[in-house]
Amino acid sequence: MDTEAQHLRKRVAIVTGASSGLGLEFARQIDRLQQVDEIWLVARKADALDDVAKQLDTPAIPVVADLTSKADIAAIKQRLADFDPDVRYLVNAAGFGKFGDWQTISDEAVDSMIDLNCRGLVDMTHATLPYMSRGAHIVQVASAAAFVPLPHMNVYAATKAFVLRYTRALRWELHGTGITATALCPTWVKTGFEKVARESGGGHDVRHLLGAQKASTVVSRALTANKLHLAVATASPQSCALRLIGKVVPNCITMAGWDIIRRI
Ligand SMILES: NC(=O)c1ccc[n+]([C@@H]2O[C@H](COP(=O)([O-])OP(=O)(O)OC[C@H]3O[C@@H](n4cnc5c(N)ncnc54)[C@H](OP(=O)(O)O)[C@@H]3O)[C@@H](O)[C@H]2O)c1
Repeated sequence: MDTEAQHLRKRVAIVTGASSGLGLEFARQIDRLQQVDEIWLVARKADALDDVAKQLDTPAIPVVADLTSKADIAAIKQRLADFDPDVRYLVNAAGFGKFGDWQTISDEAVDSMIDLNCRGLVDMTHATLPYMSRGAHIVQVASAAAFVPLPHMNVYAATKAFVLRYTRALRWELHGTGITATALCPTWVKTGFEKVARESGGGHDVRHLLGAQKASTVVSRALTANKLHLAVATASPQSCALRLIGKVVPNCITMAGWDIIRRI
């Protein structure tokens, strides 16, 4: 595409999960960077997205979508085709977890967790990549849970391991395009996550979210890591340690340690 035509295209940031927590904070910090003409805020709660849009200086468009729904993903693809934006940022922050073991988390919650955390994230990435070019940024919100298997957060941790592996291999596929993908792997963060995680039959299987960080700290570290072209943003010393532990300590020892920590 020639440079003049490219200038006519709006520079857009797309942030999923923008109604709350990390997604909301990504929208705020991308807004402050003043590198895009428009921010698309994606989540299910229209009212919350409207409130977020009002907080931002950059024009922001609420895009109400349930990312577990193929029809809603198709609508986002259509929106991309209609507006043909120059997507500078894609942040996939929509996601949730549940505390509990295989007997206490409902089949519906398990399906929805896999659909949103894995399929929705991949669908959004594949839908958006054709609109990205050199210098564009992708941040996939995984979790430090990606580094180790976690009983009583089993399916959640497995979905995040998927996100980490997917993002690492995607980076390889994107080599030479100038598009940088980073997997964000934080430990606990103070967001709406805990409330949702406890709404299950085993909601108190994890007693406390020890050492929870502020979303603003995690997001600024993630954006810096992406700018530095890092594959993984750990965002805290604890997550860094877990990353190392996941590589060198046998899983049975890690899981025994987690079984103690989750009861504290
Ligand atoms: N908080 C932590 O301790 C922590 C640690 C590591 C990783 N993470 C990850 O961080 C990401 C963001 O979570 P958070 O901590 O910011 O929690 P949060 O405050 O609960 O935010 C979750 C976001 O996902 C959106 N969402 C949920 N279901 C959706 C669906 N079906 N379709 C579209 N959007 C949906 C929610 O919006 P609506 O309800 O409006 O749809 C909300 O904006 C998640 O992937 C989570 O796994 C969190």
